[in-house]
Amino acid sequence: MQHQKEFCRFAEVYGRYNLVQERVAQALAKRVEGGCRRIVDIGCGSGTFYRAYEHPFISYLAVDISEEMLALHPQRAGVEKMVGDFDDPALFKRLSKRDFDLLVSSSALQWSKDLDLTIGRIASLKKSTALAIFTSGTFASLHKVAGTESPIRSSEETAGILKKHLDAKIDILKYKLYFKDTLSMLRYIKRSGVSGGERRLTYLQIKRVLENYRLPYLEFEVVVAIGK
Ligand SMILES: C[S@@+](CC[C@H](N)C(=O)[O-])C[C@H]1O[C@@H](n2cnc3c(N)ncnc32)[C@H](O)[C@@H]1O
Repeated sequence: MQHQKEFCRFAEVYGRYNLVQERVAQALAKRVEGGCRRIVDIGCGSGTFYRAYEHPFISYLAVDISEEMLALHPQRAGVEKMVGDFDDPALFKRLSKRDFDLLVSSSALQWSKDLDLTIGRIASLKKSTALAIFTSGTFASLHKVAGTESPIRSSEETAGILKKHLDAKIDILKYKLYFKDTLSMLRYIKRSGVSGGERRLTYLQIKRVLENYRLPYLEFEVVVAIGK
Protein backbone atom coordinates (compact mmCIF):
# COMPACT_ATOMS: atom_id res chain seq x y z
CA MET A 1 0.00 0.00 0.00
CA GLN A 2 1.44 3.33 -1.04
CA HIS A 3 0.86 5.26 2.19
CA GLN A 4 2.74 2.70 4.28
CA LYS A 5 5.83 3.19 2.15
CA GLU A 6 5.56 6.90 2.75
CA PHE A 7 5.40 6.49 6.51
CA CYS A 8 8.57 4.41 6.48
CA ARG A 9 10.42 6.76 4.19
CA PHE A 10 9.66 9.81 6.28
CA ALA A 11 9.64 8.06 9.65
CA GLU A 12 12.67 9.96 10.92
CA VAL A 13 11.33 13.40 10.03
CA TYR A 14 7.72 12.48 10.85
CA GLY A 15 7.86 14.22 14.22
CA ARG A 16 8.14 17.62 12.51
CA TYR A 17 5.24 16.98 10.15
CA ASN A 18 2.55 15.75 12.48
CA LEU A 19 1.22 19.03 13.85
CA VAL A 20 -2.39 18.21 12.99
CA GLN A 21 -2.14 14.64 14.27
CA GLU A 22 -0.88 16.13 17.55
CA ARG A 23 -3.95 18.36 17.83
CA VAL A 24 -6.20 15.44 16.94
CA ALA A 25 -4.56 13.21 19.58
CA GLN A 26 -4.95 15.97 22.19
CA ALA A 27 -8.66 16.39 21.30
CA LEU A 28 -9.13 12.62 21.54
CA ALA A 29 -7.22 12.31 24.84
CA LYS A 30 -9.32 15.12 26.37
CA ARG A 31 -12.50 13.16 25.61
CA VAL A 32 -11.24 9.99 27.31
CA GLU A 33 -12.00 9.61 30.99
CA GLY A 34 -9.01 8.96 33.21
CA GLY A 35 -10.25 5.65 34.66
CA CYS A 36 -8.72 3.42 31.97
CA ARG A 37 -5.41 1.90 33.03
CA ARG A 38 -4.76 -0.70 30.34
CA ILE A 39 -4.60 0.79 26.89
CA VAL A 40 -4.23 -0.57 23.37
CA ASP A 41 -3.30 1.95 20.64
CA ILE A 42 -3.63 0.67 17.06
CA GLY A 43 -1.79 2.56 14.34
CA CYS A 44 0.17 4.16 17.20
CA GLY A 45 2.92 5.61 14.98
CA SER A 46 5.59 7.50 16.88
CA GLY A 47 3.38 7.80 19.98
CA THR A 48 1.38 10.98 19.44
CA PHE A 49 -1.60 9.71 21.45
CA TYR A 50 0.71 8.18 24.08
CA ARG A 51 2.22 11.64 24.66
CA ALA A 52 -1.18 13.36 24.68
CA TYR A 53 -2.71 10.90 27.20
CA GLU A 54 -1.91 12.39 30.57
CA HIS A 55 -3.49 9.81 32.87
CA PRO A 56 -1.44 7.16 34.68
CA PHE A 57 -1.57 3.68 33.14
CA ILE A 58 -0.55 0.14 34.04
CA SER A 59 -0.01 -1.14 30.51
CA TYR A 60 0.16 0.50 27.08
CA LEU A 61 0.22 -1.80 24.05
CA ALA A 62 1.46 0.17 21.04
CA VAL A 63 0.50 -1.55 17.76
CA ASP A 64 1.59 -0.48 14.28
CA ILE A 65 2.15 -2.15 10.92
CA SER A 66 5.45 -0.30 10.50
CA GLU A 67 8.48 -1.37 12.53
CA GLU A 68 10.11 1.96 11.64
CA MET A 69 7.26 3.88 13.28
CA LEU A 70 7.21 1.54 16.30
CA ALA A 71 10.93 2.17 16.78
CA LEU A 72 10.08 5.86 17.31
CA HIS A 73 7.40 5.12 19.92
CA PRO A 74 8.47 5.91 23.51
CA GLN A 75 9.57 2.87 25.50
CA ARG A 76 9.21 2.80 29.26
CA ALA A 77 7.91 0.51 31.99
CA GLY A 78 4.45 -0.75 31.03
CA VAL A 79 4.83 -0.01 27.31
CA GLU A 80 4.84 -3.01 24.98
CA LYS A 81 5.26 -2.70 21.21
CA MET A 82 3.65 -5.05 18.71
CA VAL A 83 3.75 -5.20 14.91
CA GLY A 84 0.15 -5.67 13.82
CA ASP A 85 -2.18 -4.92 10.91
CA PHE A 86 -5.65 -3.55 11.70
CA ASP A 87 -6.89 -5.04 8.41
CA ASP A 88 -5.91 -8.52 9.59
CA PRO A 89 -8.39 -10.51 11.75
CA ALA A 90 -5.36 -12.16 13.44
CA LEU A 91 -4.63 -8.88 15.26
CA PHE A 92 -8.09 -8.83 16.83
CA LYS A 93 -7.81 -12.50 17.78
CA ARG A 94 -4.60 -11.65 19.64
CA LEU A 95 -6.21 -8.59 21.26
CA SER A 96 -9.25 -10.61 22.40
CA LYS A 97 -6.89 -12.67 24.60
CA ARG A 98 -5.42 -9.54 26.20
CA ASP A 99 -6.52 -7.78 29.35
CA PHE A 100 -7.22 -4.11 28.53
CA ASP A 101 -9.95 -1.55 29.09
CA LEU A 102 -9.47 1.10 26.38
CA LEU A 103 -8.84 0.72 22.65
CA VAL A 104 -7.55 3.88 20.98
CA SER A 105 -6.72 4.73 17.40
CA SER A 106 -5.76 8.25 16.38
CA SER A 107 -5.30 9.44 12.77
CA ALA A 108 -4.77 5.92 11.40
CA LEU A 109 -8.01 4.09 10.56
CA GLN A 110 -8.72 6.20 7.46
CA TRP A 111 -6.26 3.77 5.85
CA SER A 112 -8.24 0.67 6.69
CA LYS A 113 -8.96 -1.26 3.50
CA ASP A 114 -12.42 -2.16 4.81
CA LEU A 115 -13.43 0.19 7.63
CA ASP A 116 -16.78 -1.54 8.13
CA LEU A 117 -15.02 -4.83 8.81
CA THR A 118 -12.35 -3.23 11.01
CA ILE A 119 -14.80 -1.26 13.15
CA GLY A 120 -16.96 -4.40 13.45
CA ARG A 121 -13.91 -6.27 14.78
CA ILE A 122 -13.09 -3.43 17.19
CA ALA A 123 -16.70 -3.44 18.45
CA SER A 124 -16.62 -7.20 19.01
CA LEU A 125 -13.83 -6.67 21.59
CA LYS A 126 -16.49 -4.89 23.74
CA LYS A 127 -14.09 -2.38 25.30
CA SER A 128 -14.25 1.38 25.73
CA THR A 129 -13.16 2.86 22.44
CA ALA A 130 -11.74 6.23 21.37
CA LEU A 131 -11.20 6.71 17.65
CA ALA A 132 -10.16 9.66 15.47
CA ILE A 133 -10.44 9.08 11.72
CA PHE A 134 -9.53 11.54 8.96
CA THR A 135 -12.10 12.14 6.23
CA SER A 136 -12.26 13.45 2.65
CA GLY A 137 -12.92 16.95 4.05
CA THR A 138 -9.13 16.91 4.50
CA PHE A 139 -7.52 18.96 1.70
CA ALA A 140 -11.02 19.38 0.20
CA SER A 141 -10.31 22.72 -1.57
CA LEU A 142 -6.97 21.49 -2.81
CA HIS A 143 -8.55 18.39 -4.35
CA LYS A 144 -11.08 20.66 -6.04
CA VAL A 145 -8.34 22.83 -7.58
CA ALA A 146 -6.27 19.81 -8.64
CA GLY A 147 -9.31 18.02 -10.06
CA THR A 148 -8.54 14.98 -7.91
CA GLU A 149 -10.62 12.88 -5.53
CA SER A 150 -9.75 12.28 -1.92
CA PRO A 151 -8.44 8.74 -1.38
CA ILE A 152 -10.26 8.54 1.96
CA ARG A 153 -13.93 8.24 3.03
CA SER A 154 -16.33 11.12 3.62
CA SER A 155 -17.41 12.14 7.13
CA GLU A 156 -20.92 10.79 6.38
CA GLU A 157 -19.63 7.35 5.40
CA THR A 158 -17.16 7.20 8.29
CA ALA A 159 -19.73 8.32 10.90
CA GLY A 160 -22.30 5.90 9.42
CA ILE A 161 -19.92 2.94 9.87
CA LEU A 162 -19.06 4.02 13.44
CA LYS A 163 -22.76 4.36 14.38
CA LYS A 164 -23.56 0.98 12.86
CA HIS A 165 -21.14 -0.87 15.16
CA LEU A 166 -20.57 1.28 18.24
CA ASP A 167 -22.71 2.98 20.83
CA ALA A 168 -20.65 6.14 20.50
CA LYS A 169 -20.73 9.91 20.80
CA ILE A 170 -19.56 11.24 17.47
CA ASP A 171 -18.05 14.67 16.76
CA ILE A 172 -16.66 16.14 13.59
CA LEU A 173 -13.55 18.29 14.08
CA LYS A 174 -12.17 20.72 11.53
CA TYR A 175 -8.70 22.26 11.50
CA LYS A 176 -6.80 24.74 9.36
CA LEU A 177 -3.04 24.82 9.10
CA TYR A 178 -1.48 27.95 7.61
CA PHE A 179 1.58 28.02 5.31
CA LYS A 180 3.81 30.73 3.87
CA ASP A 181 3.35 29.45 0.28
CA THR A 182 1.80 26.66 -1.79
CA LEU A 183 5.09 24.82 -2.21
CA SER A 184 5.49 24.36 1.55
CA MET A 185 1.88 23.10 1.64
CA LEU A 186 2.61 20.46 -0.97
CA ARG A 187 5.77 19.47 0.90
CA TYR A 188 3.74 19.13 4.11
CA ILE A 189 1.14 16.94 2.37
CA LYS A 190 3.82 14.64 0.99
CA ARG A 191 5.52 14.25 4.35
CA SER A 192 2.71 14.42 6.90
CA GLY A 193 1.25 10.97 6.25
CA VAL A 194 -2.27 12.42 6.44
CA SER A 195 -3.13 11.60 2.85
CA GLY A 196 -1.66 8.91 0.64
CA GLY A 197 -3.23 10.29 -2.52
CA GLU A 198 -1.20 13.38 -3.32
CA ARG A 199 1.89 11.47 -4.38
CA ARG A 200 -0.20 10.33 -7.31
CA LEU A 201 -0.64 13.91 -8.59
CA THR A 202 0.71 14.29 -12.10
CA TYR A 203 3.14 17.07 -13.00
CA LEU A 204 0.26 18.95 -14.65
CA GLN A 205 -1.94 18.65 -11.56
CA ILE A 206 0.86 19.94 -9.31
CA LYS A 207 1.36 22.87 -11.68
CA ARG A 208 -2.38 23.61 -11.57
CA VAL A 209 -2.38 23.48 -7.77
CA LEU A 210 0.61 25.82 -7.54
CA GLU A 211 -1.01 28.32 -9.91
CA ASN A 212 -4.58 28.20 -8.67
CA TYR A 213 -4.64 27.37 -4.96
CA ARG A 214 -5.27 30.75 -3.41
CA LEU A 215 -5.96 29.73 0.20
CA PRO A 216 -3.13 30.31 2.71
CA TYR A 217 -4.14 27.18 4.62
CA LEU A 218 -4.87 23.48 4.31
CA GLU A 219 -8.11 22.04 5.68
CA PHE A 220 -8.39 18.92 7.79
CA GLU A 221 -11.51 17.04 8.87
CA VAL A 222 -11.66 14.28 11.45
CA VAL A 223 -14.48 12.14 12.85
CA VAL A 224 -14.06 11.38 16.55
CA ALA A 225 -15.98 8.56 18.24
CA ILE A 226 -16.01 7.89 21.97
CA GLY A 227 -17.98 4.86 23.06
CA LYS A 228 -18.17 1.13 23.36
C1 LIG B 1 -0.92 9.26 10.27
S1 LIG B 1 -0.09 8.05 11.24
C2 LIG B 1 -0.79 8.34 12.86
C3 LIG B 1 0.10 7.81 13.93
C4 LIG B 1 -0.30 8.17 15.36
N1 LIG B 1 -1.46 7.41 15.82
C5 LIG B 1 -0.55 9.65 15.47
O1 LIG B 1 -1.62 10.05 15.95
O2 LIG B 1 0.34 10.43 15.09
C6 LIG B 1 -0.87 6.53 10.76
C7 LIG B 1 -0.19 5.29 11.35
O3 LIG B 1 -0.98 4.15 10.99
C8 LIG B 1 -0.10 3.09 10.66
N2 LIG B 1 -0.85 2.15 9.81
C9 LIG B 1 -1.25 2.34 8.52
N3 LIG B 1 -1.90 1.25 8.09
C10 LIG B 1 -1.93 0.37 9.13
C11 LIG B 1 -2.47 -0.94 9.31
N4 LIG B 1 -3.12 -1.56 8.32
N5 LIG B 1 -2.35 -1.54 10.52
C12 LIG B 1 -1.69 -0.92 11.54
N6 LIG B 1 -1.14 0.32 11.43
C13 LIG B 1 -1.27 0.95 10.24
C14 LIG B 1 1.07 3.77 9.97
O4 LIG B 1 2.23 2.96 9.97
C15 LIG B 1 1.21 5.03 10.81
O5 LIG B 1 2.10 4.85 11.90
